[in-house]
Amino acid sequence: MAKKRIVSGMRPTGRMHLGHLHGALLNWKDLQDEWDCFFFIADWHALTSEYANPAIIKQTTYEIIADWISVGLDPEKCTFFIQSEVKEHAELHLILSMITPLPWLERNPTYKEQLKELTQKDLHTYGFLGYPVLQAADILMYKANGVPVGEDQAPHVELTREIARRFNYLYKTQVFPVPDVILTPTSKLLGIDRRKMSKSYGNAIYLTDPPGEVEKKVSQMITDPQRKRKTDPGDPDICNVYFYHEIYTDPGKVSEIAASCRAARIGCVECKKIMAQSLIKGLEPIREKRRELGAHMDRVKEIMVAGNRRARAIAESTMEEVRQAIKMPSDL
Ligand code: TRP
Ligand code: SF4
Repeated sequence: MAKKRIVSGMRPTGRMHLGHLHGALLNWKDLQDEWDCFFFIADWHALTSEYANPAIIKQTTYEIIADWISVGLDPEKCTFFIQSEVKEHAELHLILSMITPLPWLERNPTYKEQLKELTQKDLHTYGFLGYPVLQAADILMYKANGVPVGEDQAPHVELTREIARRFNYLYKTQVFPVPDVILTPTSKLLGIDRRKMSKSYGNAIYLTDPPGEVEKKVSQMITDPQRKRKTDPGDPDICNVYFYHEIYTDPGKVSEIAASCRAARIGCVECKKIMAQSLIKGLEPIREKRRELGAHMDRVKEIMVAGNRRARAIAESTMEEVRQAIKMPSDL
């Protein structure tokens, strides 16, 4: 039986960090054997907020794909492509925008939140309001059965489901399957300042940070904020450093660290040193693969060309069906 399909994308705002790794990429990797995977760079989505400063978008696209491959996403199993290289996304976005009621977009929680938070940028644009419509086009284009995303993106997939149903209903068709949300468990790992890891906060540890950089960042990490002195007992359950131990340090050692922390037998400086070494060791295979790929970026480019082509073929065929459904077939 043919595998069911999933589609997910990322905006190219920078190189991949641990937030991406544990919040998306490792989950994608787990899914790649069971599903027909389409993973793409949402560069037009990046333009909704970076429209005044678009150079960064193109620059990072290939770096990101190389990062994806380095963590073990397999181009033999997954189709990687670039949104703006499949122009049909723009056409489907346009058509879906005709049938999407404005209130569906205006009540979108992510939209409201970002308008409030990203005040340095003017996001009162047509394109930004329509962000989820473009996302629906990305997903429906490939007739995805599932969409692996984090909690923050779930409302967008809900909207996609509503748009799919509305399209099918209006045009009495079954062109679009209604895709399921495949929720990625939220990672406990935070940035070095204990906020969500993000390039814009400057608190990220990148997959390709050299060991010295990892050591430096880990040494700056905020631990249990209640623990002022080495003689105070700490609480690993609220310590970001400890969350990293849980993932990267040998399980036997982890329980020992927790006990020593609670008994004030280990200081945070020493604890961080141990964690930094575990993390460096854990990331080494990724760094190694990434180094190798970095010397052969033409290979990454070939993978993208092939992926774009595969995506385009599906997009062309879906758009034929969509044009038929809306009684506007191209007949010239
Ligand atoms: N909005 C998503 C994000 O910011 C990126 C994205 C664009 C996406 N199109 C998508 C995710 C389609 C899943 C499916 O992370
Ligand atoms: Fe966190 Fe380790 Fe310090 Fe305990 S000793 S508070 S686990 S950094």
